[in-house]
Amino acid sequence: MSNRDARIHRWVPWIAGYSKHFVEDALSRFMPQPGVVLDPFSGVGTTLVEADLAGHEAIGFEINPYAAFACRTKLAAHRMPPMALRRAIGAFRRFGEAAMRDGRAPCAAPPAGFRTRAPFYGAKVQGKVLLALDFIGEQNGLVADVFRLAFAATMVDCSNYSYEPSLGRKAAVGRPEVEDFPVFDALASKVEDMAADAAWHRGKRPAPERADARVVEQSFFLGYQAVPEGSVDVLVTSPPYLNNYHYNRNTRPHLYWLGFCRSPADLKRLEQLNFGTYWQTARDQREMALDPSIMDAEIRSTLAAVRERNPEKGIYGGRGWANYATRYFNDCARFVAGAKHCLRPGGTALVVLGNSILQGVPVPTDRFLAKIAAAQGFDVVAIHTPRDARVGNSIVNSAVRSGCARGQRLYESVVELRR
Ligand SMILES: C[S@@+](CC[C@H](N)C(=O)[O-])C[C@H]1O[C@@H](n2cnc3c(N)ncnc32)[C@H](O)[C@@H]1O
Repeated sequence: MSNRDARIHRWVPWIAGYSKHFVEDALSRFMPQPGVVLDPFSGVGTTLVEADLAGHEAIGFEINPYAAFACRTKLAAHRMPPMALRRAIGAFRRFGEAAMRDGRAPCAAPPAGFRTRAPFYGAKVQGKVLLALDFIGEQNGLVADVFRLAFAATMVDCSNYSYEPSLGRKAAVGRPEVEDFPVFDALASKVEDMAADAAWHRGKRPAPERADARVVEQSFFLGYQAVPEGSVDVLVTSPPYLNNYHYNRNTRPHLYWLGFCRSPADLKRLEQLNFGTYWQTARDQREMALDPSIMDAEIRSTLAAVRERNPEKGIYGGRGWANYATRYFNDCARFVAGAKHCLRPGGTALVVLGNSILQGVPVPTDRFLAKIAAAQGFDVVAIHTPRDARVGNSIVNSAVRSGCARGQRLYESVVELRR
């Protein structure tokens, strides 16, 4: 079963998420007793939800406010008031029918700072979306959170955009624009599914008096010192890959329409915090230096080889990509330092990572991360290549990673480290 069909996990699609089964297997193997699980790059909370359901204490970090909101809402599923949710769904359906029948004008407005090349919504769809937001704006507490998350999780489906796997116009990939859409019906069905999952979660979660799992909306690099030293038994995570998948651009609609972001400056701030930043952020900086703790000759020579490729292209050639990769490996070293602080001696870190090919140069990020970890005192137990680590493979085949592949293989690994 994929996350798309699994209770709670199905609430929010997330292209760069991994499968709940991977986490389930990892925890049953490495956590026979209740303990503490950490995911420094939580995304929409696959690790946290599974760890919490297995009875562990779970803590995560996530910089993207929309993803962090999705985590928090999923992790609170067991506390959702079933009656209030049922009443709200009925009221929402009636509100939609009356609004359509009476031709009501919405009070809500699209977020002022949100600009797209082509209209994000067709006029008719947007009118319905704004009416739905009028209703959602009147809700409180967890009921409001469920409706807001349901709206965010479905908002691209009824728009003129889609993920291919990055956010782009449907028209650009030969798909028709969306002139009309049953917005109220789709949202009500989504919330009905979420309410059913919340009831399931209430019955399934062991030791219900436990506190909710936590996600800290902060960069792991800036926040890890607050995790008590040596307190974590197992770390399961997937950091951003060295493939320039742009989490912030791809969640722009969610960030703006949910009010997490009001201007490009808010997005810029997130870009700077992102693991490795992005190629767009790093490419025109002065030549970046590798962290002095990374002495490994293979890493250094690989980056030098990337830097020398296609000099005629300036920052769009090897120079820009080498800067981005240098930032990325420097952040691998920061991540390893944070993991070392949080994990107890003997604790395990499982890090899911994809390799890269930059300007035609193969970059085995999994082996390089392992070398960086070994240099900081970790044992590299194994580098596994699983069959089913991730939800989808679209990110694996994304243009940036495969653009210069020429027969070279793109793969994903789980790097197993022991503190
Ligand atoms: C590959 S995704 C994780 C997906 C997650 N395993 C799941 O299944 O939902 C990586 C996440 O790391 C987050 N991230 C990037 N830099 C971060 C940082 N410095 N601290 C915390 N989170 C960060 C991104 O916003 C993104 O959501």
